[in-house]
Amino acid sequence: MTILGIETSCDDSAAAVLVDGRLVASVVSSQDAVHGPYGGIVPELASRQHVRQLLPVIDAALARAGIPLVAVDGLAVTCGPGLVGSLLVGLTMAKAIAQRLRLPVVGVNHLEGHLLAVNLERPADEPVPFPFLGLVVSGGHTGLYLARAPGDYACLGRTRDDAVGEAFDKAAKLLGLGYPGGPAIQRAAEGGDPTAVRFPRAHVKRDRFAFSFSGFKTALRQYLEEHPPTPDALPDVAASIQEALVDMLVGTTVEALTLTGAERLVVAGGVAANKRLRVRITEAAAALGVEVLFPRFALCTDNAAMIALAGRSRLEAGEDDGLAIGADADLAFGRPWSG
Ligand code: KG4
Ligand code: ZN
Repeated sequence: MTILGIETSCDDSAAAVLVDGRLVASVVSSQDAVHGPYGGIVPELASRQHVRQLLPVIDAALARAGIPLVAVDGLAVTCGPGLVGSLLVGLTMAKAIAQRLRLPVVGVNHLEGHLLAVNLERPADEPVPFPFLGLVVSGGHTGLYLARAPGDYACLGRTRDDAVGEAFDKAAKLLGLGYPGGPAIQRAAEGGDPTAVRFPRAHVKRDRFAFSFSGFKTALRQYLEEHPPTPDALPDVAASIQEALVDMLVGTTVEALTLTGAERLVVAGGVAANKRLRVRITEAAAALGVEVLFPRFALCTDNAAMIALAGRSRLEAGEDDGLAIGADADLAFGRPWSG
């Protein structure tokens, strides 16, 4: 089955072609240059840029795959969570193509896409075995999920306020390092001392797997008001910021691994590209005898290949959400965890 995947939930316009579970083309048009001057995503600008970019991106993915649109058998499109205006552009495009070519189309949860992206690099018949714990860390999301079987996910905890990627982005903005902040903080942190400044590591009372980054943000703002960083101090400050954020992710993930007894951990989303997180979480998991899997860098950040893959089993089973799929900015993912 040839699947066209479409992803526009945030600030990247993306399309991909998957043939029998094998990724043959993935094209992502970044909007970093559009939002960079604002130090964060401007939703209305994101929607408008998707309108401009999506069709050329789909054409490019099909051209790269060497597959004409008429050879596509079904579409998978992100329906949430995300920015509602951005989601609507992708959904409208997917539904229009489906309607015109009389093809099935399924709506995909963006978070399921991130969680399954790691399978794009494995043979189609050898996905990561269930059960596994998933840590999704991006600019819009921070959560821990237990994947028990295809389509069977439980949410152990999520962020109460900002996503960890947003915390990286805001820290970079305060330091004048530009957008997106994660890679900028990582670069600035090279050679810095991660123990130089002790920023707070939050624990959410009565909800052991929840995350919170607002206290960190306030502490960082206060620290920077009192100690405007000099170029010499920047590596230490950036390394300390990175360490605090990584510590919060690793600490909660270790607790979740211990409690669930999961033998595999998948780390996905844009922040999974962070080198320090990769090292620290791999060490912590190894101490528990847990195998850690990361998608390659390009598949950590938003892309449509993961959406096509997440929609694959439903399309192959003959499902069709048709024109009824709506955009849901707050689309939930996973049943509440009940132990
Ligand atoms: O998954 P993604 O592309 O989009 C969302 O679904 O949000 O994630 C983007 C986020 C941004 O906040 C960006 O700063 C962060 O991922 N990011 C990183 C790194 N690369 C991207 N954060 C830390 N270290 C990195 N190397
Ligand atoms: Zn994402």
